[in-house]
Parts: sequence; structure tokens; C-alpha cells
Amino acid sequence: METAFWHERWKQHQTGFHQKEVNSHLKNYWGQTDLPKSSAILVPLCGKSLDLLWLADQQYRVVGIELSEIAASEFCAENNFQAVPQNIEGGHLLQPAPLISFLCKDFFKVTRSETGKISGVYDRAALVALPPEMRKKYAAHLTALLDAGAKIFLVAFEYDQSKMQGPPFSVPENEILELFGEQFVIHEINVSEFRAEPARLAALPEKEPIRERVYILEKK
Ligand SMILES: C[S@@+](CC[C@H](N)C(=O)[O-])C[C@H]1O[C@@H](n2cnc3c(N)ncnc32)[C@H](O)[C@@H]1O
Repeated sequence: METAFWHERWKQHQTGFHQKEVNSHLKNYWGQTDLPKSSAILVPLCGKSLDLLWLADQQYRVVGIELSEIAASEFCAENNFQAVPQNIEGGHLLQPAPLISFLCKDFFKVTRSETGKISGVYDRAALVALPPEMRKKYAAHLTALLDAGAKIFLVAFEYDQSKMQGPPFSVPENEILELFGEQFVIHEINVSEFRAEPARLAALPEKEPIRERVYILEKK
């Protein structure tokens, strides 16, 4: 998915991926990361997700990364934050709330000096938003931003890719192993199954089975 695709989605308000509530897997399973409060959590490809607020409410320092300026300004406006964008290399930095930093730039160009030391990553609809070749780049770049001991909380879908063009893409367990298995210990935390319905993964035929897996990955 090239950057123009996402800019156009935001411009046209085609943001069906945005959840109006905090992600239930985050609420149910994040505790299993055992990450201490006040550590820094990276949220790549964060959109205007309410999950940023939930993580900050748990007293984590949250660093969101998002390409779209529209997402950044909607995030601020919808949550009554006022933030003055600061210019950084290739984008902007906003500080909407004391515990939330919002890097508005291309994830693939974000550096360690911009993120600071990251203890955890929350990935919902980030890896699965990208086509296969970009997923490899994403996994490599994310890995490079992390030190040993850092954890990734990852939610991924599996479905019959021949029935729908992504995004979101099907990213099965064997691919998670290929992308991260060498550098991370991978724990599967939960598997759930549901059926496609018009409001969710709308391009799939109705009642098509979808599996959602939650993983916690720990960098070796
Ligand atoms: C499927 S949405 C998911 C957003 C968010 N994680 C959520 O759960 O609502 C993917 C987001 O990634 C952003 N994005 C895509 N490519 C990106 C990139 N290279 N760098 C930063 N953000 C990117 C898009 O603008 C979009 O907001």
C-alpha cells in the first residue's frame, strides 16, 4: 500500500478500520505483557485509535506513528486535545497529552532517536494493513527500533485471501513465524473465530470464517 492510498482514504473518510471503542483484546490481554507502567509503548500506523488513550490511561508513555495529518488532527479534535505541531525531519511531532506523543511521518523513515527507548509495541491493524513485501520491510524496521527484552502485542487476522483483496490482509501464523521467529520468542495468547458480516471486513462474502490471533512477541 503506497502512502497515496492511505492519504486518499483519510481524505475520503474511508476509515472503516477505526474502532469507536477500545480494542477488546487490548483490554483483555495487554496485562500479559507485564510491561511496567511508565515504560514507552510504540503504536505504529496508529490512525486516530482510541487505544492510544487507553494505554496512556494505564500510565504508559505512548508514541503513535501515523502518516496522515488528517488522522492526527481528527485525533486531537475528537478527544479535545490542542497540540501545536513541531517540524521534524519528514513530518511533524505533536504532544496532544502529557503521556502521548504523535509522530506524524512515514513509519519506514522513523528513527530510534525519534522514538527513544521503546519497551513495548501495540500493533492492531498495522502489520495486516500492509501487502506481503511491505510486511517484510515493516517487520525488519520494527525489529531494528527495539532492544532485547522489548515486547510486541500483535493482533492478526487469517482468512481465505482469494476471497478478498486486502487491506486488511490475511497474515497467518506461519508468516508471523517467518517474519519474527528468528529475533523473537513468540507466544500465542488467544485465538478467536468469527464470521464475516457486512459491517466488518465488508469485502468478504457474508459468513466467511475469519480467525483472529493475539500474540506477544519478546525480542531475544
Ligand atoms: C488500517 S489503519 C489502522 C489504524 C489503527 N492502527 C487502528 O487500529 O485504527 C492503517 C493506518 O496506517 C497508516 N499508515 C499506512 N502506511 C503508513 C506508513 N508508512 N507510516 C505511517 N502510517 C502509515 C494509515 O494512514 C492508516 O491510518
